[in-house]
Amino acid sequence: MGRKWKKQHKMKEGAENRVQRPKKERPPTTNYEELIRENKDFETYYKAQKIVPEEEWDAFIVCMKENLPAAFRLTGNKNMARSLLHVMKKTFFEPLSQLVPPELTQEELDAGEEPVKPLKPVCLPWYPDNLAWQLNLTRRNIRRCEAYWQLHQFLISETETGNISRQEAVSMIPPLVLDVQPHHKILDMCAAPGSKTAQLIEFLHSSEDELSAAIPQGIVVANDADNRRCYMLTHQAKRLQSPAIIITNHDAAFMPNIHHTRKDGSVGPIKFDRILCDVPCSGDGTMRKNFDVWTKWNPVNGANLHGLQLRIARRGLEMLTVGGRLVYSTCSLNPLENEAIIQRLLVEADGSVQLVNVSDQLPGLKFVPGLEDWILMNREMEMIKSVEEIPVKNTNLFNKHLFPPSPEIREKLKLGRCSA
Ligand SMILES: C[S@@+](CC[C@H](N)C(=O)[O-])C[C@H]1O[C@@H](n2cnc3c(N)ncnc32)[C@H](O)[C@@H]1O
Repeated sequence: MGRKWKKQHKMKEGAENRVQRPKKERPPTTNYEELIRENKDFETYYKAQKIVPEEEWDAFIVCMKENLPAAFRLTGNKNMARSLLHVMKKTFFEPLSQLVPPELTQEELDAGEEPVKPLKPVCLPWYPDNLAWQLNLTRRNIRRCEAYWQLHQFLISETETGNISRQEAVSMIPPLVLDVQPHHKILDMCAAPGSKTAQLIEFLHSSEDELSAAIPQGIVVANDADNRRCYMLTHQAKRLQSPAIIITNHDAAFMPNIHHTRKDGSVGPIKFDRILCDVPCSGDGTMRKNFDVWTKWNPVNGANLHGLQLRIARRGLEMLTVGGRLVYSTCSLNPLENEAIIQRLLVEADGSVQLVNVSDQLPGLKFVPGLEDWILMNREMEMIKSVEEIPVKNTNLFNKHLFPPSPEIREKLKLGRCSA
């Protein structure tokens, strides 16, 4: 309340000194909250793909239309993170979950305002040491309730000092399944803005030994093709003050080798122990946050990106050491951007690369196994079941590699080990 009043008061004071200029006509701005969250083609496409069990479809669509709750991680040294978690629970979470938010006036109720919901912090059970949380802290709640505003300010200041990192829950998963050890040489191929890079750096510094925790043996090379976005990476790295990070600015599909002197004195290209391949994608898994995807979605966006995604992942495999691990991830639900890429890599590698089963690595995480069969559709929503059925108008868009594996090789590939 205090803040709201201060804001109004300040505005009035400022208004007295302001020179009155004629108002310019501004183009109407998009109110993202009000964008219609519906796309029949999206529903038809993904229902046909059977991306969730049939009985879960209705709940899935309802969930996709809801706003994504804010999530964050407590970062840095584990002891410090645990202490901060203790302070946060005692000072904010426990008192706020008892708090009755302010009631609305009749005027506000008449204007259709919704009451502030009680704060329900959710600890993400699959994140190690209870260090990742989700909060239903909306902008409206922060505006209306002083105690929520204070929590919000606390989160902002701890983020600025690097003790907290705001990051979507699903985005925390790929670095976790990469299974990083402090001595690993890690390549993050498409790293900006760097929330996953930050996790990788933290894992490098997670040794119990104080000296190794401060100066780890391993290193993270964080790359992005976009020069401006590389500056975001620099900002992330600077916040963490790690000596173990190199930032590069290359097209990851043509990532150059980095040469180093080996222990035996010979010089050669670095082979990485761990590679994160978080490629550019259609982003249709981010609709709960990026509402405009609802209006822009069409079934061919995924096919358009397949080539670039494959070239990046393929280069990743070339730079991986024998016995190393590469995690391929997107924020898309589309099998053409996910399972079809993995299928192609496995077929090309002809047995020298295999999909690892990580299903028990994050206990408590709800996921569905990767698809072993899927359907292609063009912009007109015509189903294309085989190469022979590709219409002439779509020969530039679709090719034989986008189709699901034949029954003969399906079992060998084990695409069910992918997850969504
Ligand atoms: C999904 S975002 C990566 C998000 C990032 N991993 C994170 O967690 O913050 C994809 C990134 O790929 C970059 N990118 C696009 N094409 C690329 C290419 N050919 N090589 C390397 N990076 C590329 C984009 O600039 C973008 O920053």
